[in-house]
Amino acid sequence: MKISVKKAVLPAAGLGTRFLPATKASPKEMLPIVDKPMIQYSVEEALSCGIKEFIIITGKYKRTIEDHFDSAFELEENLKRKGKKELLEKIITLNHIDFAYIRQRTPLGLGHAIVCAMPFVKDEPFAVLLSDDIIDPQETLLKDMIYIHEKYNAPVIALERVPRKEVQKYGVVACTPLPNEKDFKGRVFKITDMVEKPSPETAPSNLAIIGRYILTPDIFTHLKGLKPGKGGEIQLTDGLKSLLKKRQIYGYLFNGKRYDAGSKLGFLQATVELGLRHPELSGDFKKYLKDLISSFH
Ligand code: G1P
Repeated sequence: MKISVKKAVLPAAGLGTRFLPATKASPKEMLPIVDKPMIQYSVEEALSCGIKEFIIITGKYKRTIEDHFDSAFELEENLKRKGKKELLEKIITLNHIDFAYIRQRTPLGLGHAIVCAMPFVKDEPFAVLLSDDIIDPQETLLKDMIYIHEKYNAPVIALERVPRKEVQKYGVVACTPLPNEKDFKGRVFKITDMVEKPSPETAPSNLAIIGRYILTPDIFTHLKGLKPGKGGEIQLTDGLKSLLKKRQIYGYLFNGKRYDAGSKLGFLQATVELGLRHPELSGDFKKYLKDLISSFH
C-alpha cells in the first residue's frame, strides 16, 4: 500500500507550566505514564500508521527527548551482558526510526512551532500529534484521519464533543456533517469556521479540536503571515481558519478514549487506566485500587 503521510511533526517546545515544579528543568513530554514518556505514546501511534519520519520541535531544557530516542550503547551492552532480553527489546524498538530535531528558539505558539518544521516537511502532507493528548493505543484515530485525507485530498482535524463549559480550553469549530459519507457515517464534517479558545457563550459549537491533525504543506504560507492571536501566540487554529478561505478542511469526530494528559487530572486518569492494562501490573494494581476504594466506605 502506498503511504501518503510519511512524516509526523511533534511540537514539544511548550513550557509545561501546568506541571511545575516537575517541568522546571525537564520536559513535560518526558513525564512517564506508567513506564513510557508521554511523547513515546504519540511516536508509537504514528508508527502504527506507517509513519517513519519524525520531526520534533524542541526548546530549552528538552535535550532528554533527544537522548530518549537515541541509542544507548552502554545501557544496551549492560543489558545484553546480563541477559535481560525483554528490557533490551524495550529500549531498542525505536532505534531504527529517523528523528529530526528543530529548536523553536522562543515559544511563540503552536502555529509558529509548525512553521519551524517546514524545512523538513517540504511539500508533503504530514501528521501533527500533540503528545499531551494521549489516544488509547487500541484506537485507530490517526489511521482513520489519513484515510479521510486520502479520500477527500484535504486537511483533516480531529474533533471531540466536550462539555460547553470546557470549550475555552480548545480550538472550537463550526461545521456541517457530510451527508453522503459512508465509511464513517455522521462523523466526517466540513469545517466552516474555527476559533481558538472561545468563551462558552461565544463558541460556535461544542466540537473541540483535539491534538491530531493531517495537514497539507499550504498551511505554512497561511501560518507565516499570521499576527499573534489568543494568548499573544501564533495559533495553528488561526492558520487553519485562514486556509479555510482557500480550500475545504474536514473534521473527524473521535468518540474513543482520549486522555488530556496535559492536565493533572487527565495525567492521573491516563496513569491509572493504562496501568490497569499493563501486563506487569494489572492484577496487583487492580487489587490495590479496589482495596483503596473500599477503605473510603
Ligand atoms: C492546542 C490548540 C487547540 C487545541 C488543543 C488540543 O492548545 O491550540 O486549538 O484544541 O491544543 O489539545 P493547547 O492545549 O496547546 O493550549
